[in-house]
Amino acid sequence: EIGKISKKLGFSTYLVGGIVRDIVLGKKNLDIDLIVEGDAIKLAKEYAKEKGYPFHTFDEFMTAQITLDTGEKIDLATARKETYTHPGAYPKVEKATIKEDLYRRDFTINTLAIELTEGKFGILIDFFNGLKDIKDKMIRILHQLSFIEDPIRILRALRFAGRLGFRLGKPTEKLLKLAVDENMLDVAPTGRINLELNYSLNEEKVIDILMLMNRYRVLHSLIPEFYMDEKREEILNRLRDTIMSFEMFFDIKIDRVSNYLLALTYHLPFDISYKLLEKYHFSKSVKFFEEYYEVKDILREIPEKDSDLYKKIKFIRKDILVYICASSEIELSERIIKILKKEEEKQLLISGKDLKELGIPPSPLYKKIIDDVFKKYLDDEIRSKK
Ligand code: CTP
Repeated sequence: EIGKISKKLGFSTYLVGGIVRDIVLGKKNLDIDLIVEGDAIKLAKEYAKEKGYPFHTFDEFMTAQITLDTGEKIDLATARKETYTHPGAYPKVEKATIKEDLYRRDFTINTLAIELTEGKFGILIDFFNGLKDIKDKMIRILHQLSFIEDPIRILRALRFAGRLGFRLGKPTEKLLKLAVDENMLDVAPTGRINLELNYSLNEEKVIDILMLMNRYRVLHSLIPEFYMDEKREEILNRLRDTIMSFEMFFDIKIDRVSNYLLALTYHLPFDISYKLLEKYHFSKSVKFFEEYYEVKDILREIPEKDSDLYKKIKFIRKDILVYICASSEIELSERIIKILKKEEEKQLLISGKDLKELGIPPSPLYKKIIDDVFKKYLDDEIRSKK
């Protein structure tokens, strides 16, 4: 329908960006981005009014956003060229053709478009060999200055390479290394680095991405005195598995970003990590780091009895226990997880209601009895019926 209105207005409209790449790859992606050769705002208004959808326009950027009944959003942008005034800056914008619009993008795999205009609906547009690069599993930039104009693309290249298991094309690899050597990441806006690292650290293939960031010295560029060794690699891998176990067992969402940042910086004194977190705006992680440093020595001596170990860890939040588990001996880590699982079952073990039914009059003793039963349960002196 949007194709029909587009035709009527004399515009051409295309589905573009990550969603087209992911359609080709057979992956899920719900970000609908449209490019309009003509006027995106006019098209959005006409379409939204006809369908009764709410919409916003951003005149300065020649873009608009429509909200569908399902709550999903469609972004429409007028085809444009961008000129960068200086590296990393937000670009200046001018109207252009679809080809020019696609040419300003980061990688060939992101330049595919599907025409939606009535009469041409469904035609795949591939000016820059994106389809071939998807087939060949290659990340390639479109022009020599890509990483210099937008250094965030250094991070994006490695994120896509890790996520999709793709390699960097030879010239792309060379130019990426050059941009890293020229410290281009130092001139990128720190807010955009924050955003991009957040995405990377939440990716399923986070370890692959971090290993690429290590190989291409991106981590060194972001974190002074960074080094990768076997120990850190082991912690990173265990962290990934431990996060998954915690999320499954306890049905919670673990703060991945803070955990991985800690694994990358644990060798640094706190004041230096703190400055890094501030610099890249990881304010939530500051709190996490502080809490971790407060408790990190708590397990220097490991109690023999599980009930004593429980006393030490019961005030530590699970986000942080994840890190403690991943960086401790396997045996301790397994004990902690076992204890936390038992804690989950505490309510099922014995309740005030059970005691009442046994004819014990309600009193502060209840808590003591319940805690005692739990203590015995932790130390395997009693078993639950399950
Ligand atoms: N883009 C770019 N340079 C950037 C960021 C984005 O050229 N620094 C382009 C890319 O071509 C991308 C499009 O803008 O396809 C949309 O960006 P974004 O939504 O961030 O990327 P997706 O490809 O949709 O990535 P993801 O799958 O992670 O959402």
